[in-house]
Amino acid sequence: MDLTSFHRRSIDDREGFWAEQARLIHWHKPFGKVLDYSKPPFARWFVGGETNLCFNAIDRHLPTQADLPALIFVSTETGEERTYTFAQLHQEVMRMAAIMLEQGVGRGDRVLIYMPMIPEAAFAMYACARIGAIHSVVFGGFASHSLASRIDDASPKLIVSADGGSRAGKVVPYKPLLDEAIRLAAHKPAKVLLVDRKLAAMDLVSGRDLDYASQREKHRDAQVPVTWLESNEVSYTLYTSGTTGKPKGVQRDVGGYAVALAASMKYIFCGNPGETYFSSSDIGWVVGHSYIIYAPLIAGMATIVYEGTPLRPDAGILWKLVEQYKVTVMFSAPTAIRVLKKQDPAFLTKYDTSSLRALFLAGEPLDEPTARWISEGLGRPIIDNYWQTETGWPILTVAHGVEKTPTRFGSPGMPMYGYDVRLLHEGTGEEVGVNEKGVVAIAPPLPPGCMQTVWGDDERFVSTYFTSVPGKMVYSTFDWGIRDEDGYYFILGRTDDVINVAGHRLGTREIEESISSHSSVAECAVVGVADQLKGQVAMAFVVLKDPAQASTPETRMALEGEIMRTVDKQLGGVARPSRVHFVTLLPKTRSGKVVRRAIQALCERRDAGDLTTLEDPSALEQVRQAVGG
Ligand code: PRX
Repeated sequence: MDLTSFHRRSIDDREGFWAEQARLIHWHKPFGKVLDYSKPPFARWFVGGETNLCFNAIDRHLPTQADLPALIFVSTETGEERTYTFAQLHQEVMRMAAIMLEQGVGRGDRVLIYMPMIPEAAFAMYACARIGAIHSVVFGGFASHSLASRIDDASPKLIVSADGGSRAGKVVPYKPLLDEAIRLAAHKPAKVLLVDRKLAAMDLVSGRDLDYASQREKHRDAQVPVTWLESNEVSYTLYTSGTTGKPKGVQRDVGGYAVALAASMKYIFCGNPGETYFSSSDIGWVVGHSYIIYAPLIAGMATIVYEGTPLRPDAGILWKLVEQYKVTVMFSAPTAIRVLKKQDPAFLTKYDTSSLRALFLAGEPLDEPTARWISEGLGRPIIDNYWQTETGWPILTVAHGVEKTPTRFGSPGMPMYGYDVRLLHEGTGEEVGVNEKGVVAIAPPLPPGCMQTVWGDDERFVSTYFTSVPGKMVYSTFDWGIRDEDGYYFILGRTDDVINVAGHRLGTREIEESISSHSSVAECAVVGVADQLKGQVAMAFVVLKDPAQASTPETRMALEGEIMRTVDKQLGGVARPSRVHFVTLLPKTRSGKVVRRAIQALCERRDAGDLTTLEDPSALEQVRQAVGG
């Protein structure tokens, strides 16, 4: 079948289409209604059906492939490398589930996971799924304040963490950050389960902290049956940044997500049982949830959990793993490829990567030169795919399991089945024509796998995502896009204040709030500025309470360092601005709105656009001078 008809059918006959896809997973109890859309924009998929993500990922494969690899752990940081078969993984997950149950964690309770890329992190996620607890994974690169706000929002009964991780050869302690976060948070978790990797010193808080190794020993032979969950119960929440300083807990279901992932493995990623999937993402991001933890295993593949960078021990490591584990499907981010581009291209051909059916890249725009470089250097198909934490699986790409549509450099492709994608005029909400810029929107209902709501805040779900086009209930992605005459889409950047640094999605407001907490700062503005390597970097403009504090190059430098450390400490190194510039006022409109787009334009040496509404044009002049424009 061709992709256009396949897509058409998924929209015209939603229920028929998804009822068919639902056969890709195991249902303990069949569902009744395929879609309940009686309360738009809330969609409930596979109503009444009972299933379980952990069962579909692990138990389901035990009769046929118990002794095949399921989880392959490779740390180039510590030199560890181990493989768990489906049977072994099953046992580890039951042990972890038993530990959780003994601590009183049950169906619907939250478990916050703050972990490096180690197998125990995956065990904890599967264990939650197994017993119906809701996991909320927080990226290990986030620091105390970020973690504390997520602890308060998720109010977990249990936190699972570790002494530390390691990045580029440097130990990153987790426990002190976690202790500080718990101190800052209003909600106090009853228990904290800690994996001691012996990387960093770790003091256990008596009565609260549990040592994983001894707990595991205690539950060695645990048998924990799966808890069957109604399709619309909550599997997890995952925090993501938006326009406000308060991250949103993206909430996902069980059945719809399992079906969406299974279908994506068949039609988009084309992975088969017994093969190996390698995603170099992190469990703290949505790509890690969908394409490290759940989808590969649901499809009966082994998944690689990789702790390391693309450069150590050398720039060939990713391809070495492809050769060693005969990886057939690989997923990475454009940033990783741009990093490799600066290295010797001989690494691309040093290893046998012929097992690779395709390399999928997502998370940020894949520029044409980078796509071309990796495609030619590797000689394997490169598939760009565009989606969001909110959607859980690709919105735009090609689906070679449906039709071998050619890819086009610079374009992530076409709308995937289930997504009724529209490009809308920002002001009128009308659909724009071919080659005209519009906001990428999706006419609801959103397909299975997409977010159900914002955790604990239905109102925010509606007001954030469904009200940007007046008079029309459509989901806004907050991305600009265009479509060419052949139907290929191109993504042109965000319409809001979200930036993308090396594939990490960050809200400029969160960074501004952190900078503003520094006692010398009166106000500030943070914008994302184009960067050759990282895609974007954050740049801050700060107005000091006392400008005299930054009157010499030395004091400016010292204060810049202090502000950067404030962000490091509160949010984590990923959010640290690349530069902090001091100005005496911020460019604002007469109504007091900071004109971030104009600041960004100046930073990127572009025309700042229409400035007639500015309160004081000299403010922009200061920005221009600060960035040397
Ligand atoms: O701006 C788009 C960009 O990343 C945002 C979503 O980031 P996140 O929630 O972290 O989810 C990443 C899932 C892969 C989008 O709104 N983005 C993601 N993929 C692409 C992209 N921009 C251009 N091309 C892509 N392939």
